[in-house]
Amino acid sequence: MRYQIRAAQIDDLAEIIQLNRRTGLSEWSEESYREAVASKQFLLIVIELPEEEKNRIAGFAVATVIFTDLEILRLAVKPSWQRRGLGSVLLQHVLEWGKEQGCKRCLLEVNADNQAAIHLYKKYDFVELYRRKNYYSHPPGDALVMESRLHRVHAERTGRVPIR
Ligand SMILES: CC(C)(COP(=O)(O)OP(=O)(O)OC[C@H]1O[C@@H](n2cnc3c(N)ncnc32)[C@H](O)[C@@H]1OP(=O)(O)O)[C@@H](O)C(=O)NCCC(=O)NCCS
Repeated sequence: MRYQIRAAQIDDLAEIIQLNRRTGLSEWSEESYREAVASKQFLLIVIELPEEEKNRIAGFAVATVIFTDLEILRLAVKPSWQRRGLGSVLLQHVLEWGKEQGCKRCLLEVNADNQAAIHLYKKYDFVELYRRKNYYSHPPGDALVMESRLHRVHAERTGRVPIR
């Protein structure tokens, strides 16, 4: 499978918003996506499959930096392309970007019933920090706040001991 990761552009927003809907992510306004494309405070990347005839965007991720925290705000892969490693590729990309920005840890919220995402995050060293009861309404559920220490991820990926 050939894929390309690139920064999203305004022209991609219709496809991204459609993907947002199809993957059951909580709603985000077009305005929020526009801001994520335009502002340097956000990373909005898409994974594109150049060999697809149309709807080439197979997934996307949105993240931002708050002081030394990288926060993942959105991550989704088109249902027909799930379980082929694309979610992992997007996540790794976001984590690398966070490290380049000098972030020390990554934080995210996930529905406590979302086993696919929780497995993915655990695979990348995320641990549960705490639970927010009845945080989501569509679908209802608790939120888990998860954290990953970025220097540790880096050390494991490169086999080097982090400099403290
Ligand atoms: C979560 C999501 C992004 C994963 O994308 P993906 O491309 O399927 O992920 P990958 O193929 O890279 O899978 C990596 C790991 O995630 C875990 N995983 C992914 N889908 C899973 C599933 N359905 N059940 C259990 N574990 C799953 C596995 O540990 C998997 O590793 P493995 O294949 O070696 O077992 C995708 O399921 C999705 O878009 N879900 C809907 C939107 C969403 O919930 N986003 C997260 C919001 S916090």
